[in-house]
Amino acid sequence: MEDTAIRIIDLHKSFGPQKVLDGINLEVETGKITVIIGKSGGGKSVLLKHIIGLLKPDSGEIWVNGNDITKLPEKELNEVRRSFGMLFQEAALFDSMDVFDNVAFPLREHTKLSDREIESVVEERLRQVGLLTFTEKMPSELSGGMRKRVGLARALVLDPDIILFDEPTSALDPIISLSILDLIRETQQRIQKTYVVISHDILGMFRIADKVAMLYGGKIIEYGTPYEIRRSTKEATKEFLKATKIPGFTGGSYEQQQDFP
Ligand SMILES: Nc1ncnc2c1ncn2[C@@H]1O[C@H](COP(=O)(O)OP(=O)(O)OP(=O)(O)O)[C@@H](O)[C@H]1O
Ligand SMILES: [Mg+2]
Repeated sequence: MEDTAIRIIDLHKSFGPQKVLDGINLEVETGKITVIIGKSGGGKSVLLKHIIGLLKPDSGEIWVNGNDITKLPEKELNEVRRSFGMLFQEAALFDSMDVFDNVAFPLREHTKLSDREIESVVEERLRQVGLLTFTEKMPSELSGGMRKRVGLARALVLDPDIILFDEPTSALDPIISLSILDLIRETQQRIQKTYVVISHDILGMFRIADKVAMLYGGKIIEYGTPYEIRRSTKEATKEFLKATKIPGFTGGSYEQQQDFP
């Protein structure tokens, strides 16, 4: 398998006079968790939308599975999109469907599995996220954290190679946030797929990231392990970490640093 799951080359995007992406270069490693951090309004969601082809760049390339997806026609793009799972910011569940049907939806849309096979896959995914006893609940009867869990189960259901997360812990209390982060880490360690997470919850992100990329001024100005990022000497990075109260490197072993916070 290729070491690079997603290769982004010199990606540019402006909205009118506003330059949002100004030459993004990033290689997302296969089978790892890459977290993209950066300030609110900095272009994280815009970048993610380019990766699934919801937005077209002004220039640049995004290579996934041997295709530059920025050049693909819609029909072929849809094929490539199937290799992606996506957890949207608001979980984006179908309000009129219960938990089971929400998770079963991608299987009914994109596969020819029998009802019995679908049931077995859905139950397995719901077990993984700890919601097996909630199959008949409607989204309105769930807490925010439970909705995210259903969204995660649905993102995993087609067994995609790449899963994108837009702010998986926003609007959740700290305890639930931690349980979602642990769940993300656990599932990734179990299935070894490529995860891309964007967030401004820096503290949480340092907990799960294999690699961190910092988006600043429309560019990726830092890329490395959480340990390396915290030792950065770049002013912009230090300012950003200081503002989010991440302490810099204070000594201790690599493992201790990995355990942070
Ligand atoms: N479709 C669009 N049309 C015009 N401007 C847009 C569009 N989408 C995003 N923008 C602008 O691009 C900039 C970056 O937005 P984006 O949503 O990527 O920020 P973000 O880093 O995800 O922020 P947050 O952390 O708050 O979610 C913002 O100034 C936003 O107004
Ligand atoms: Mg965003």
